[in-house]
Amino acid sequence: MKYDFDRLVERRGTSSIKWKVEEGELPMWVADMDFQAAPEILDELRKMLEQGVFGYSFIPDEWYGAYMEWWGQRHGLKMQKEWLLFCSGVMPAISSVIRRLSAPGDRVLIQTPVYNAFFNCITANGRIVLENPLIYNESEHSYSMDFEDLERKLSEPGTTLMLLCNPHNPVGRIWDREPLSRIGTLAKKHHVTVISDEIHCDITSPGKGYVPFASVSDECREGSVTCITPTKAFNLAGLQTAAVCVPDAALRERIGLALDADSVAEPNYFASCAAIAAFRKGGAWLDEFRAYMTENKRIAADFIQKEIPGVHVVEGDATYLLWIDVGMLGGGTGEVAAFIRKKTGLYVTDGSIYGKSGIHFLRMNVACPRSVCLDGLSRLKEGVRQFMNERGNTNRL
Ligand SMILES: Cc1ncc(COP(=O)(O)O)c(C=O)c1O
Repeated sequence: MKYDFDRLVERRGTSSIKWKVEEGELPMWVADMDFQAAPEILDELRKMLEQGVFGYSFIPDEWYGAYMEWWGQRHGLKMQKEWLLFCSGVMPAISSVIRRLSAPGDRVLIQTPVYNAFFNCITANGRIVLENPLIYNESEHSYSMDFEDLERKLSEPGTTLMLLCNPHNPVGRIWDREPLSRIGTLAKKHHVTVISDEIHCDITSPGKGYVPFASVSDECREGSVTCITPTKAFNLAGLQTAAVCVPDAALRERIGLALDADSVAEPNYFASCAAIAAFRKGGAWLDEFRAYMTENKRIAADFIQKEIPGVHVVEGDATYLLWIDVGMLGGGTGEVAAFIRKKTGLYVTDGSIYGKSGIHFLRMNVACPRSVCLDGLSRLKEGVRQFMNERGNTNRL
């Protein structure tokens, strides 16, 4: 290993949302990492600091080139420069695209459980959330799409957009070509545009790639708007930078050459340089990170299987988030998560914020040094043990 992912970095006192916790608490909730960004990115940012002028900037050609090379080489999608629109972040972009491509009162379909901000960005824009719940296989602890329900909902009058999470947060699933292709066909048939949020696409197990929605078929390419960014995989989320890829010229025209002013703002030169450095120089770091993360996930799944009987980790090759089925505890995970935090200091996310079907799950972020991950796991075990003891659950640990 060239890079040191075991090193602890003190994040308290840096206005980190994740680390705004009491002394002794261990935050494993919001999706950012406790690792420093790749040294290749930090070197680039250091050069900028030394020059020290932070005036207004334009979007350099290298920004387009870096995205095009990365998706061409890593993900098999040949993008053209004019497909790419700059924006400040994925959620601001999705919000703007919703406003541009739908009308107030329209329905926007999402596949729940799903990233909680999807709900807000639909309702805050005066659109209606239409849920197409994923199917959970309780014996295999895996998810799939419900196409019958999907088609029914896409065909409802007023459904104009589908917000796809590819790969999927929080269930960690990489969607194969086949379901994506079916979505493309159904969306075209019912005149629905697909917004594919691909923010987690580079966080996959070694040897496992994701499938860009726009690469699947002509229908998928022409009927979609894709949000991409290096911020999640390279731990740059606080710098906020992203791109929207719109291959279809007519859709681009509807969206506008630039997105709404609120999402474009001024190009943040610092952030776009970080993005360029990530894609052009960060590949080796990312590959080591993926191996380290996959090992954290494997260790966690083994630990939970051996040490916390009845609790199951949903298998997934994407994201650094564990989606943990704690249904055997009974009750809602709001209560379980609060209990575990109070008793052990471990702060994980209550699955119900991702939709009703998340009510029996916890989401745990393992993008941290191994020692921290192990600490989190033993706190989880202890929290579950105490919860079961207090509730008189007969499956005592
Ligand atoms: C699926 C998904 N989309 C978007 C975001 C946030 O994107 P941004 O910070 O660029 O707005 C997250 C953050 O966790 C996410 O999981």
